[in-house]
Amino acid sequence: MTLRLTLFGITAGAALIFLGGFAWTWRPAIPPINLEDHGDSDAKAIWRGAQLAAIGNCNDCHRADTGESYAGGRPLPTPFGTIYSSNITPDAETGIGTWPEAAFKRAMREGVDREGRQLYPAFPYDHFTKATDEDLGALYAFLRTQLPFRKAAPANALIFPFGFRPIVAGWKLLFFREARFQPEGSKGDAWNRGRYLVEGLAHCGGCHTPRNVFGAEKGSSSYAGGVAEGWDAPPLNSGSLAVHRWNADDLFEYLSTGWNRLHGAAAGPMADVTNNLGGVSSTDVRAIAVYVASLSADSGDTAAPVQTNKIVATSEVRAIYEGACANCHRDPNVVGPSKAVSLSLSSAVRQWSAANTVRVVLGGIQARSGAPGAYMPAFGGILTDSQIASLADYVRARYTDQPQWADSLKEVSKARQEGSTP
Ligand code: HEC
Ligand code: HEC
Ligand code: HEC
Repeated sequence: MTLRLTLFGITAGAALIFLGGFAWTWRPAIPPINLEDHGDSDAKAIWRGAQLAAIGNCNDCHRADTGESYAGGRPLPTPFGTIYSSNITPDAETGIGTWPEAAFKRAMREGVDREGRQLYPAFPYDHFTKATDEDLGALYAFLRTQLPFRKAAPANALIFPFGFRPIVAGWKLLFFREARFQPEGSKGDAWNRGRYLVEGLAHCGGCHTPRNVFGAEKGSSSYAGGVAEGWDAPPLNSGSLAVHRWNADDLFEYLSTGWNRLHGAAAGPMADVTNNLGGVSSTDVRAIAVYVASLSADSGDTAAPVQTNKIVATSEVRAIYEGACANCHRDPNVVGPSKAVSLSLSSAVRQWSAANTVRVVLGGIQARSGAPGAYMPAFGGILTDSQIASLADYVRARYTDQPQWADSLKEVSKARQEGSTP
């Protein structure tokens, strides 16, 4: 940890403690229930809850490293250190088995646990707070049907003083408003349903909106592009990088199958999102698509990228591209059996950093299980760091009119490091 980060942590933490004291952090505990006390839920609520859990990516953060659903303990790196997700199976000791419905709803809406402790906003309750009572009830009913699994989450490893939970109350005072969703009468049902899901349980802004130094989303730049686990989450607003403007049909296909002919495949953390949405009702995914398309409605199609002549490339990198990439990624965009699209259409290549391009070349694209999806082999074991960096710079120069990336080589070693320490 650098000295600057420590000093920043102390100053920011002190400010939050001050505010936290002011906000009065104490919240009452809600008495526990016996597992047997819990009445039966109806099958419909459980089914709805399963869909909402997929929309909320709950298991992407709450699945244990060892694979057990909702058993928690997954490390989430933040600029303030590592936070571990909680066990939300119905285990009485280490999970939420003794939580009455009211305690679950309070956690989702206010970020406070059953015993009254403040929860860190790495748990996206700043979005979940918008969910309706009925939807939270369905989620609770669904989580109750999961297998209880006994496993306590490891202690968080946060830099001083962020380990002190009451300071979250100060953060909330500055950045969190408990709120329900308000539909807009002038818009259609699908748009309102989409907005409800996108802003609420689906928390798309959690990755696609930039954050300030306190880790809170910048409300003034909603969907302007953010970061997620080392990847760049592209802008979904009028700043969209897509060469073809996203419309609701293309978004529907991309979100429900993970692929679209004019935009390519969802990779990295977005692949988890589309895998989940693949199991969600098409009415809800269509609603999300309708709303997200409206975010960039005022941006036009980008002019077809010029095949730049200024390409500075050694014959080695050109040969690698022609031999290892061009057979799948064809120009003009003729989609072959691998489902690769021309890199002239890829937002990854148009991104402000080499992060996504480098990570896809290192790790490839995994075909979705059960579906004949897009597939790209991993080149991490075949190409050297400097070959991958030169390839990234080459496709950037060849397929966009954007400035060269600052340091692709550094990005490659960063990505390799992340890959070796999950
Ligand atoms: C981006 C990652 C992420 C996602 C997505 C996520 N959670 Fe969590 N959740 C966390 C983390 C991290 C914590 C622990 C926070 C803490 O310790 O302060 C947590 C805590 C909780 C808690 C409090 C448990 C306790 O014992 O205090 C509940 C309940 C919960 N999550 C439910 C859900 C549900 C339901 C969903 C899906 C709708 C969900 N979470 C999605 C990261 C996530
Ligand atoms: C966990 C972080 C995360 C969440 C949550 C998330 N995204 Fe993404 N999204 C990403 C990343 C990273 C990419 C870039 C993927 C790539 O390069 O293939 C991406 C790419 C996209 C793209 C492609 C944009 C383009 O121009 O190529 C769309 C559209 C999109 N996301 C929509 C959504 C929607 C809608 C939601 C909510 C339902 C959502 N995302 C939730 C991380 C996330
Ligand atoms: C076996 C076919 C195949 C080969 C070989 C291949 N790719 Fe891909 N690649 C794909 C598929 C399929 C996708 C996902 C669809 C898309 O976005 O084009 C993809 C996606 C990409 C993306 C976009 C990822 C994103 O997040 O949007 C980049 C960049 C990329 N490939 C670069 C390369 C480079 C560089 C090479 C050569 C080292 C290469 N690919 C070789 C099939 C291939």
